[in-house]
Amino acid sequence: MGKLNFYQIINKPDQLKKYENFDVFYKTKQGYCLYKKHDQSFTEARLQLGLHPDELFITFNDRVSIIRNKQHKLNNDIKKSIKVDVDKARESISELITVTLSEPRSEILKEIKNTINIIVKEFLEDPEVVIQLTKVSLHDYSTTLHLTNCMLFCIGYGYYSDFNEFDIKTLGLMGLLHDVGKIEIPDYILQSDRRLSDEEFEIIKQHPIKSKSILSNSNFDKKVILSAYEHHERLDGSGYPKGKKSNEINEWSKIMSIIDIFEALTNWRPYKQAMPTLEALKILKKEVTDSKIDKTYFEKFARSLIGMKKV
Ligand SMILES: [Fe+2]
Repeated sequence: MGKLNFYQIINKPDQLKKYENFDVFYKTKQGYCLYKKHDQSFTEARLQLGLHPDELFITFNDRVSIIRNKQHKLNNDIKKSIKVDVDKARESISELITVTLSEPRSEILKEIKNTINIIVKEFLEDPEVVIQLTKVSLHDYSTTLHLTNCMLFCIGYGYYSDFNEFDIKTLGLMGLLHDVGKIEIPDYILQSDRRLSDEEFEIIKQHPIKSKSILSNSNFDKKVILSAYEHHERLDGSGYPKGKKSNEINEWSKIMSIIDIFEALTNWRPYKQAMPTLEALKILKKEVTDSKIDKTYFEKFARSLIGMKKV
């Protein structure tokens, strides 16, 4: 089968129905062989009796097109529900991010731009509608939720700091993609409700590097890639992964770091309660005093929260 890449599918009757219209393959010692063509169906008898090979595959190109179709559908759902059913819109955004992160390759990541376009367009027409999206349910922590919230805070930051539409979209993308590398960190570390060991923390500290390498293969704005790489750096050089100092850190990364800290403080995590907004702002203010984060961006962010009625 030449240079085709393959992706193993779940070999259960209810799952296989999804692949009715695709070529399906099985593996032999010699390589991958066609099991059924895209215009053939899995026969009921085969499905029920399990008379098919244990391991079935589709081509990687088909996997990408399945994900892209799903992304299109979810973006349409977001467009339709954002004005009329905030909960549904939020659910669709989460699902879209989850689907996107299941295969973060450039052709799949680029669909996220459409999501941002939909949300920013709505925000510019009626901020109130999108502000409703930031109402989060407690005890529901995931990287997806963190990314959704950060995206909304980033859009709010741009809007209330008079950024132009293009820059607001770039900020939104930054928020949505800055932690994309976390998909390569094991869940038992990310979801841990105990203090992490030094070794585990070292593994977590790799995520900006992983984010950068995932995003570098895409054609996103450089600022989006840089903020994924630098959002844990601190002005005094105490951050990671490089320990960069203020003059070495991109300005947009400095904004991202403030929003990232705020989101982490104000939302529930397996190991801590959610903190009220004012208390979180006090902690951020201390970070300003300690020369960790930028004063001007902090003040602008606090002002945007007032605009977003989060204070
Ligand atoms: Fe991060």
